[in-house]
Amino acid sequence: MPPSKEWKEVVSDGEDARFLGYAEYLQGLQRARAQKGRALHLKQNLALKGELVIDPDLPEPARHGLGARPGRYGVWVRLSNGSGASQPDPKGDLRGFALKVIGVDGKKVIPGMESARTQDLLFINHPITAMRNTDEFLAIVKGMQTPALLLPRLIGAVGFFRALAILKAAVKDLGFKMTSVATTDYFTAAPISWGPYAVKVKLEARAKPDPSAKAGGTPGYIGEELTSRVKANAVVYDLRIQHYVDPTSTPIEEHDREWHSPWLTIGTLTLPAQDVTSPEGRALQAKVEAASFDPWHALVEHRPLGNVMRARNHAYRLSTQERGAAAEPEQS
Ligand code: HEM
Repeated sequence: MPPSKEWKEVVSDGEDARFLGYAEYLQGLQRARAQKGRALHLKQNLALKGELVIDPDLPEPARHGLGARPGRYGVWVRLSNGSGASQPDPKGDLRGFALKVIGVDGKKVIPGMESARTQDLLFINHPITAMRNTDEFLAIVKGMQTPALLLPRLIGAVGFFRALAILKAAVKDLGFKMTSVATTDYFTAAPISWGPYAVKVKLEARAKPDPSAKAGGTPGYIGEELTSRVKANAVVYDLRIQHYVDPTSTPIEEHDREWHSPWLTIGTLTLPAQDVTSPEGRALQAKVEAASFDPWHALVEHRPLGNVMRARNHAYRLSTQERGAAAEPEQS
């Protein structure tokens, strides 16, 4: 199946008001924690700087947005645990990889930020989410506030069979034992536009996991492992996109369905050897913690798509406002 431009978003009645309500709920949790931090993905494992190279002469379906702007870009990376609470790394969680590409010219999506020079891409360590849509996502987040009541609350929100399916998928995802960020693949899980096309994006680790490696056991092992690895060696990923081909193989609105279409490499992300404990490295940790990574920090060619992305258009703005996040950087 070739890439298709026939993708469609389906906006449900009243969803914008509902999504704003969800964002306000998350902001309320953030306020209740009474500490300046993110509503989700609170714990920063590590921040790194790096370089993204976009390849020249890409085939037409890839030659839009970033794909039409080949060259070298400075980047910031924020690695995180998914929870809104700060938990020890061995506790099951989703892992985030937030990428800020800096120095990207071209009109951006958010009104008032059209001339910002950043393109953000937010990844997690799974190709899909356990939740099909934002209503399910918030049902889980709300249920988790009192874990003993999670199951009855989830059943109340989405029905018995759907609740069991979500929990089964979530337990599997959360149970993944990460040995190293450097050997893990990361996925946007939700789609973005790529000029007239729709795509999902992936970072595919060049280093493959060592089958004998075991996940660490210390509360901060994810950042500690990466700190010592990157002190001596670069960490490298291929940046790849996967095009929408048809509504069955590549659904736009159902975020629990993996896409079936070929992956195409469009560039390389390199996190060069660096000492995160040096004064410069420590300054970067603070700068990235204060920054705001938002899927809507995007070129108009890369508008986020699907209901989860539309909900995120409220959630990230309220969360960054609540914690007084820094303005978008002009340079890396
Ligand atoms: C495919 C689905 C999703 C992915 C891949 C994803 C990924 C991420 C990542 C990687 C971060 C950390 C960003 C950073 O390091 O600064 C983050 C933060 C956050 N996410 Fe999501 N997320 C998803 C869905 C959602 C949804 C549905 C909501 C709520 C409606 C949401 C709300 C938030 C909030 C409020 C933050 C903190 C924003 C801040 O203060 O900077 N996310 N997400």
